Amino acid sequence: MSEQTTPDDITAAVLASFERSPDERLGTVMRALTAHLHAFVKDVALTEEEWRAAIGVLTATGHITSGTRQEWILWSDALGVSMLVDALANRVPASRGGPGDGAGPAGAATESTVQGPFYVPGAPHRGYGERIDEMPAGEPLWVHGTVRSLDGRALPGAELDVWQNGDNELYAVQDRKVPETHLRGRFTTREDGSYGFITVRPTPYPIPHDGPIGHMLAATGRHPWRPAHIHVIVRAPGHRPVTTHVFDRDSEHIDGDAVFAVKPSLLRELTARSADDPERPAGITGRWWSLASDFVLVPGAAAG
Ligand code: BEZ
Ligand code: FE
Repeated sequence: MSEQTTPDDITAAVLASFERSPDERLGTVMRALTAHLHAFVKDVALTEEEWRAAIGVLTATGHITSGTRQEWILWSDALGVSMLVDALANRVPASRGGPGDGAGPAGAATESTVQGPFYVPGAPHRGYGERIDEMPAGEPLWVHGTVRSLDGRALPGAELDVWQNGDNELYAVQDRKVPETHLRGRFTTREDGSYGFITVRPTPYPIPHDGPIGHMLAATGRHPWRPAHIHVIVRAPGHRPVTTHVFDRDSEHIDGDAVFAVKPSLLRELTARSADDPERPAGITGRWWSLASDFVLVPGAAAG
């Protein structure tokens, strides 16, 4: 009489099937994936009905994904995997300074966070003090600061590649009614490493939630909202680029970002300013806001 095949026998057979993978790293990853996936199935005692539902969710994810809608990355974002991969790939040296002046922790390398689906390369080059809003999109905001290397040296010629949403919650790529360059721009730092541009206050907005991710969020009692933020990629010769955000520290959802991308070092204060404030930049009329944010890059080559 032959012995029965156990769940562990099945796991062992699958693990063994990857033993001779010609690509060693792939073999390691597939064995670990098998071990964790099988442990998960056993742990929750996955039923046949649940397995069928999961296949349905994966199928729907494939169907809704297109050139402009990446539901697979949204799964990665909503499950915190994007932030985890980013954290492992982009560890930065710990802070050497004390608390900063509101523009970021003094001396610390700027931490990265998710890029998100709304980045479009090739934003227009704009000059110091110019605006990125090309049509009415909210309350005026002056964003300024300095880009430095880890040793404190100012970095002239660094590039800030900026994009954000407006008060209708949308990015230009999501909104057929606005120019594709609206709320996007590339700025180059001046001799003293400084940059400055005019924009509008970003608002909280929901991640796309009309597909499988939206169903998962609703079914698990989660919400799709992200706190208000401005995206920036900072690049400078001889330094690792950083893809990050600056967050409005007083924004709704700052303690409950749907994609887990808030890091304390990226929180900034938006300061209310009056129309007669002597620091009001040319190009702004009436009441305005300001946001100071320095960026600190780590010397080294761009990741391959
Ligand atoms: C964003 O910040 O643009 C974003 C990030 C992750 C998912 C959706 C949007
Ligand atoms: Fe965003």
